[in-house]
Amino acid sequence: MCGIVGYIGSKEAYPIIINGLKRLEYRGYDSTGVVLYKEGDLALCKTKGKVADLEAISSKLAESKSTIGIGHTRWATHGEPNDVNSHPHLSNSGELAIIHNGIIENYDAIKTQLVNNGFVFHSDTDTEVLINLIEYVKQQEGVKLGKAVQIALKQVIGAYAIAVFDVKKPNEIVVAKLGSPLAIGIGEDEYFIASDATPFIEFTNNALYLEDGEMAIIRQGRELRVRNINDDIKIENPNISTLNISLDQIEKSGYDHFMLKEIHEQPDVVRDTLRGRLLVNEGVIKMSSIDDHLNKFIGAKRILIIACGTSWHAGLVGEYLIEDLARIPVEVEYASEFRYRNPIITKDDIVIPISQSGETADTLAAIKLAKEMGAFVYGICNVVGSSIARETHSGAYTHAGPEIGVASTKAFTTQLTVLALLAAKIAVSKGSISTTEFHQFINQLDAIPNKIAQVMESESKAKEIAKEYADATNFLYLGRGYNFPVALEGALKLKEISYIHAEGYPAAEMKHGPIALIDENMPVVVIAPKRGHYEKIVSNVMEIKARKGKIIAIVSKGDTEIVNLADHYIEIPDSAEPLTPMITTIPLQFLSYYIAVIRGCNVDQPRNLAKSVTVE
Ligand code: G6P
Repeated sequence: MCGIVGYIGSKEAYPIIINGLKRLEYRGYDSTGVVLYKEGDLALCKTKGKVADLEAISSKLAESKSTIGIGHTRWATHGEPNDVNSHPHLSNSGELAIIHNGIIENYDAIKTQLVNNGFVFHSDTDTEVLINLIEYVKQQEGVKLGKAVQIALKQVIGAYAIAVFDVKKPNEIVVAKLGSPLAIGIGEDEYFIASDATPFIEFTNNALYLEDGEMAIIRQGRELRVRNINDDIKIENPNISTLNISLDQIEKSGYDHFMLKEIHEQPDVVRDTLRGRLLVNEGVIKMSSIDDHLNKFIGAKRILIIACGTSWHAGLVGEYLIEDLARIPVEVEYASEFRYRNPIITKDDIVIPISQSGETADTLAAIKLAKEMGAFVYGICNVVGSSIARETHSGAYTHAGPEIGVASTKAFTTQLTVLALLAAKIAVSKGSISTTEFHQFINQLDAIPNKIAQVMESESKAKEIAKEYADATNFLYLGRGYNFPVALEGALKLKEISYIHAEGYPAAEMKHGPIALIDENMPVVVIAPKRGHYEKIVSNVMEIKARKGKIIAIVSKGDTEIVNLADHYIEIPDSAEPLTPMITTIPLQFLSYYIAVIRGCNVDQPRNLAKSVTVE
């Protein structure tokens, strides 16, 4: 994972790099560093910890007024998080500096070769190997930095987004990408380099996203030069995108944490996801990405949903939706399992990867595999222009806006929104639901943003409940049908940010194991809206009660049965069962948020996690 930032221009580089790194901390935050060019020398500062820790020890750099530099925030892969393993790394001569996001898989073999040629290594990282390989090539071949980077990268197996700087060529930064994202912001007489566009949106709207296998030589005052690394072909007129992210979207807007802000954004972002697609007055769902391939969807023998983490949970809800409405068999797989298990895929299969970041390495690799095997790949993705968005045949953006909190919230509900649109659109097109059923469904879907807004009122209740259970060591989450994946997601949220062990289970399966855990110390969150399998879940609640478990129930407004059995309950507005996950999930987000806050956890940057997992 990791975040990289670079700047070359006439402004002071240090504040741009530090602010940029702070915005990229969602990519990793166990160590960090910056190197600036100053009067023929490199000024390096790096440390274990967060960007704020770097700021505290780099006041000299802050004063340097340097206009060229690169910085890094790390999520450790090779070598524990410590000062030495932090990036940037310098070559043995001290002349070259590198920042790297990715993994060099054959670093050991290259290291041995370099050690045999007299190189010494100070860190345990694959990145230090790469910068010394570049230096070795430069010395051996007598070439300039750009050429040396290109030759070195041809020997490398793995993934990378790198920025390399040579003290002898101080007006130039060389960047390259394979498998990890790299955006170049193009300003007036200045360039920005970053893992995504957020570090430079206040400076420029113009960004070039490098494609896999491309490198660029970035020189101040000169046009960008982009080349293909392997065949050395110059890319003429590279595709420069215009960004439409605002600074406000990536700031906390008065909330204590990004996660809380993002929970509250859900009524609006779900509305954005529906906008222009769900046309209730006309009684249609308009999605050209589906219309353009309608026969494929109608004729699909099977749909495979591939994702990781929260997106995988959205995929499970998608399975219920698509099978229920469109009557197409669906399988949901972890991308990491799918790609390594020799799956059976045919050209009549549709593969739907779901990803917030659009950069998850396993999901990306699974897409490539599915394409090789002839499947049509339709992506559901949040980050515009991300690798997954570019790699898929077609797809729909979720329009959640930047999600910064590591624990995913609004990305999940907007993924559910796209899946509901997709299922209903296919269903009505192939006739597996009647026009009347379709109209009822889209009317219900249209009402969801307002219902999510109503559930925001559950915040204070969730906060109260959180106070009572913040010291719990275990939690059980139970749901049935459409709300079983919500139980998984609720448990994941709690684990991620509060470090309390939590398990999500289909409520009826409780009897096959977890029931043994229930006693008066076990809080059990039961997701029990009035629709679906209500009577069955009432029985499950009684089983918990009989064993003295503490029951926190999510129920429909007006519930009379479960509220009498539960220790605590949160009411939600009624909705069609397939759409309940978009509502029931909100109180669970609040509950985990407030438990984490009470426990003093770092909500937006939980330990060991990262927002975007670009390593497998
Ligand atoms: C990481 C994040 C999760 C996310 C998962 C999949 O683990 O911390 O929040 O659900 O990756 O990420 P994606 O960007 O593919 O949805």
